[in-house]
Amino acid sequence: MTSNVSSDRRLIIAIDGPSGAGKGTVARALADRLNYRHVDTGAMYRAIAWKAIHERLDLQDEQALATLASRAVIDVSDGAVVVDGHNVKQAIRTSEIDAAAAAVARQPRVRQVLIAQQRAMGAQGGIVMEGRDIGTVVFPQAEIKIYLDASPEERARRRATDPAHAAGQGASVVNDVASALAERDRSDSTRTASPLALAVDAVRIDTTGMPVDEVIDRLLTLVNDYRG
Ligand code: DC
Repeated sequence: MTSNVSSDRRLIIAIDGPSGAGKGTVARALADRLNYRHVDTGAMYRAIAWKAIHERLDLQDEQALATLASRAVIDVSDGAVVVDGHNVKQAIRTSEIDAAAAAVARQPRVRQVLIAQQRAMGAQGGIVMEGRDIGTVVFPQAEIKIYLDASPEERARRRATDPAHAAGQGASVVNDVASALAERDRSDSTRTASPLALAVDAVRIDTTGMPVDEVIDRLLTLVNDYRG
């Protein structure tokens, strides 16, 4: 068991991986243990998708979405998700936003805007940032890069039973969740703009059947080892 991380050096910890791999739970717990800031970048793409739907924008209109992203004020600190004063923490966890966020995240100019904001948030270190491109694009210089994965069946099961995620119409059965997840994985990994990919220097952890505490301990060990 490794829970003592004794150094003042404030690191950048990047956690990437597909949906349902356990990034959220693990990143939050790790940030708590280290007294670091936790940033869920997926929530930023979701917030932009929510706002775009709210404003009835065409989700394929890159220019309109990029303008919206550059004007929107997004706050994802301390587990909150607020966009232009609207608390959307719950509203962004629906099947509609799952699909809309994947569409928004395909747009290179939207990514450009959000990536700049993410870099600014992590510039001082002391951050655990989770997403799809954190170790590859946002912070290629991150001291610690983790790629969390799990079997498609386990990821679908976790997503289907996640209390934070309101199951949309008919999506309450694992099979429906599994096919929606597979479609999002396909979209996230095949898009041209910073697709989900394993950084060469990332540590890949398969969390299938692994208790959360064990995953967190593995990560704390990596942090301690890094600090020597
Ligand atoms: O992690 P999530 O399911 O909340 O992410 C929502 C969408 O945003 C998903 O389609 C992946 C995408 N995303 C991304 O492209 N890059 C990130 N850094 C984070 C999320």
